Amino acid sequence: DEIVVRVQEIIADHAAQEGPLLPILHDVQGAFGYVPRDALPVIASGLNLSRAEVHGVMSFYHDFREDPAGRHVLKLCRAEACQAMGADRVAAHARGKLGIAWHETTQDGSVTLEPVFCLGLCACGPAAMVDGKLVGRLDEARVDELLSEVGR
Ligand code: FES
Repeated sequence: DEIVVRVQEIIADHAAQEGPLLPILHDVQGAFGYVPRDALPVIASGLNLSRAEVHGVMSFYHDFREDPAGRHVLKLCRAEACQAMGADRVAAHARGKLGIAWHETTQDGSVTLEPVFCLGLCACGPAAMVDGKLVGRLDEARVDELLSEVGR
């Protein structure tokens, strides 16, 4: 099938590389927008690893998605400087409003919520990234605004 063929090509591209698992996972996510479940056994057998090992590495890093993302991706900074500025409160508000937990996507497919660890905007925390755009000084009202901009 299409996924298997593409994943095999990606594995072949990294054949000569040492420690190819992470770059392969990155390329697979680049190709599909997430790492499809069907890719795991292909990667595992290609690299002589167990599926559990591949899955373990995938879930250790926050970068990899197991499901396609929603139309918009809201990343909220969870790192220390933002925490000190009230990031937890803002995050709780966003989760409640969207009715989803971290790494989940709303039922209508509009928004995926992801934690991120420092966006380099520490002086203007709590910080977020909406579809790749940085946003600082978040509070509950600003979260509501951002969500209404993406149709929530
Ligand atoms: Fe949040 Fe740096 S800690 S942007």
